[in-house]
Amino acid sequence: MLTLSKPNFIQESVPLKPHNSFRFQATAGYFAIIDRLESLELALKWANSNNISITMLGEGSNLLITGDIDGLVLINRLQGIEIEEVGDQVQLKVSAGENWHQLVSFTVEKGLAGIENLALIPGSVGASPVQNIGAYGVEVKDVLVSVQVMDRQDASLSWIEAKDCGFAYRDSHFKGAWSERYFITAVCLALSRQHELKLSYGGLAKGLPNDPSLQQVFDEVCAVRAAKLPDPKVIGNAGSFFKNPIVSNNLYQKILDEHPDVVAFSIDDSNWKLAAAWLIDKAGWKGFSRDGVGVYEKQALCLVNHGADQAECLLRLERDLKSDIKLKFGVILEREPVQLGCLPSF
Ligand code: EPU
Repeated sequence: MLTLSKPNFIQESVPLKPHNSFRFQATAGYFAIIDRLESLELALKWANSNNISITMLGEGSNLLITGDIDGLVLINRLQGIEIEEVGDQVQLKVSAGENWHQLVSFTVEKGLAGIENLALIPGSVGASPVQNIGAYGVEVKDVLVSVQVMDRQDASLSWIEAKDCGFAYRDSHFKGAWSERYFITAVCLALSRQHELKLSYGGLAKGLPNDPSLQQVFDEVCAVRAAKLPDPKVIGNAGSFFKNPIVSNNLYQKILDEHPDVVAFSIDDSNWKLAAAWLIDKAGWKGFSRDGVGVYEKQALCLVNHGADQAECLLRLERDLKSDIKLKFGVILEREPVQLGCLPSF
């Protein structure tokens, strides 16, 4: 393949601290902010012809950067929202670099229901299918029609239907096998003017009047989240650091015998989903702090960075927390954010 010369919008040796919500320091070998599909194509062709790997980031709010990234880091800032009436649905084609919360706010203003429970989730629209973002009984897969991708081999664009994306709890093919194959460039969502609101999760309905409006649900979700989740602009974090673990009936019964207050949800005849926050809280870690990192004082599922420069301290905390939870409950916690960069050894 012909070796292409570097487009001048690609910079060298750029610090990534402003581009990850944990605010850990690391350096990108090459770096560019992408606001047009043409630039993405140029960057891709240059990197492919020089055998340089590419990492695409949105707002870096579900990331754990544990070391420098030698290849090219692209920040997706593709903008644009198109609205189309399709039967009784309203479909929105949204470019991947739009901010997720601003999109939710925009849809609520327009009277479109479907993603109001996902208000105030940090990050970009393009990141939403990767981990199938979810909150208060709604996941993005519930309203997703398709995802537009650029193929990393030949820069071709295509739409993949939602049913083919392998969506599961905090998971999709984009988080796994497809991370090396595609960039997400846009999503298509189907929303509705008929307000079928989902209020059954946890305490959501408690703070609302009977028959609430879309705006009231949005406001309540924002209030509940702001009260217990750390604002990444103020304190470094990546939302829930662990997934809620799914355990067998046997293990659930064993934990229940010892702890009648365990918080768990039945998944099917043989499995239960446990509240990881409850396990961490019960084990005494909530509010724990060490070496500049810690467990958030108002929500035990969030690990936070109070001022550490590198992720190493957080990895040590994760290791100790996981082994304590394994010892106390027999449960193995699984990390939720995506890890990038080489692993420091300890
Ligand atoms: N709990 C505790 N201690 C705590 C916090 C919670 O014991 O410090 C118990 C409470 O009894 C509560 C239960 O754990 O009933 C569950 O807590 P919560 O409702 O806050 O939800 P979560 O399971 O901890 C999940 C998502 C969040 C999402 C909320 C609301 C995951 C990994 N996390 O958290 O998503 O906002 O439900 O739907 O599924 C994220 O993914 O980054 C995220 C924040």
